[in-house]
Amino acid sequence: MACDYNLMPQSYEYDVLIIGSGAAGLTVALNLPGHLRIAVISKAAITSGATLWAQGGIAAVLDDADSLENHVRDTLDAGGGLCHEDAVRFTVEHAKESIDWLVNSGVQFTRDEHEQLHLTREGGHSHRRIIHAADATGQAVSTTLSEQAAARPNIDLLSQRVAVDLITNRKLSLPGNRCVGAYILNLADNHVELFRARFTVIATGGASKAYRYTTNPDGASGDGIAMAWRAGCRVANMEFNQFHPTCLYHPHAKSFLITEAVRGEGGLLKLPDGSRFMDLFDPRGELAPRDIVARAIDHEMKRLGADHLYLDISHKPADFIRHHFPTIYEKCLGFGIDITREPIPVVPAAHYTCGGIMSDERARTDINQLYAVGEAAFTGLHGANRMASNSLLECLVYGRAAASDIARREADIPPPPPAPDWDESQVRDSDEDVVISHNWDELRHFMWDYVGIVRTTKRLQRAKHRVDLLSQEISEFYSNYRVSNDLLELRNLVTVSDLIICSALQRKESRGLHYTLDYPGLLNEPGDTVLVPANYRTPAS
Ligand code: FAD
Ligand code: SIN
Repeated sequence: MACDYNLMPQSYEYDVLIIGSGAAGLTVALNLPGHLRIAVISKAAITSGATLWAQGGIAAVLDDADSLENHVRDTLDAGGGLCHEDAVRFTVEHAKESIDWLVNSGVQFTRDEHEQLHLTREGGHSHRRIIHAADATGQAVSTTLSEQAAARPNIDLLSQRVAVDLITNRKLSLPGNRCVGAYILNLADNHVELFRARFTVIATGGASKAYRYTTNPDGASGDGIAMAWRAGCRVANMEFNQFHPTCLYHPHAKSFLITEAVRGEGGLLKLPDGSRFMDLFDPRGELAPRDIVARAIDHEMKRLGADHLYLDISHKPADFIRHHFPTIYEKCLGFGIDITREPIPVVPAAHYTCGGIMSDERARTDINQLYAVGEAAFTGLHGANRMASNSLLECLVYGRAAASDIARREADIPPPPPAPDWDESQVRDSDEDVVISHNWDELRHFMWDYVGIVRTTKRLQRAKHRVDLLSQEISEFYSNYRVSNDLLELRNLVTVSDLIICSALQRKESRGLHYTLDYPGLLNEPGDTVLVPANYRTPAS
């Protein structure tokens, strides 16, 4: 078994360096040929990403009454006219084989009385097509895949390591537009190590930590998106940050999601007086796509001056609730809320980054030998609003596509060139960590207030002004002090927040997750918001 200790040298060479150990990164690792030496890097524990927390499930057409065409149509519809249809078809058509792979890898999904995979429903889906492991699907996927990876002799799982920046030929003043690895901070001894690799894969998840309230775990600071941007990759559609409608509202419940499957199984959204309201906003009611439901809740909360609304499933039999939602039942009970008898207090929270690093059907980016998969990538699948349970599916389908592409090309790709060690000679230990914690709080507050569910140009401009100041301050801090995980995350959050704000300012319409009072209508010919860094080059250059 590959392990995490006794790795004394500070420079490593691998065939494939995978930054991120969620569903996307582990899918790539497990689908690569066994003769390749692979490192999978994770900031914290190997199972620490958003994948572990996924509740609802994974979308796939597995029922005869459903069809691939239905799944494609629902995804396009939820995506508000911006999905790339080829990416949608590619994903939907490869869903079944990806689920088969997960089942064969040992993931235990919930089955019905006929031993068939139980299918639940979520917003935007016209059919039952979500496979799940009760209400803890991510845990089943994450633990199974990480156990499988740990058993492979060619895979080193390296936790407590934070990627700082990518290394490219251009940074090394060599010809060509190639990625040759990354600098990685080892949190065990706080030193930056050199990882050289023939192929590098970014699988670092999303950036919802840019917002004050989020369903995401701590590490969701958009590191991969920021690193790829600095290295010269284009990013797209960053204005479409998804807010999940129902996060548990309780002073001691940090970021706990109440899955959309609760609504799929009959849960109703209610105002404080117990009345329903979703039918006033959309004929699909509680099962309208997420952008519509989150905006409706936000509207009602503001109208009533309420700090939360309610999600009620207590009209269903108690056994049914406990069987389908054991994790949510226990968690809420821990806070004194018995969901079989009373409604759950809920608020919307930042949940998913629909935009990201531009990548193609093989998960290739603008830089040769650099791939992007999972939530960090922009494939065109989600358009202006991701449909529920399409993201784990994207991790699987594109993770497998990246692995096939690397396997196909690897014989032709030479070893990475030599690269210098990380230079710490000009920096010292920080004596002002308060700058980091203060700026971190400030950023997440103004992102929530000015760049949230409902935007205006004035608020976005305010946010832009503040992010520019923070960016300057953090860049000075970064040049003078030794790096730490907090500093790296803040630096990346400032970068992705800037990308979100700039994208939002460019979109002069309200579409999907981007809603601005200044441009409430839709443009006739919508397009993606593509941001191009100053150091962008085509892969061929
Ligand atoms: P993650 O699983 O987030 O993994 C990111 C990895 O990158 C981690 O290992 C992290 O440590 C590592 N990393 C990050 N930065 C660095 C760095 N600088 N250096 C080293 N390592 C780094 N989607 C669905 O389809 N169905 C659901 O039911 C569902 N439920 C969800 C519930 C919750 C509460 C949340 C938060 C999300 C949910 N989602 C769901 C979304 C889905 O879980 C994520 O989009 C998906 O898991 C992302 O997988 P990933 O592999 O791209 O990233
Ligand atoms: C949920 O279970 O509601 C989350 C599903 C998702 O984000 O796809």
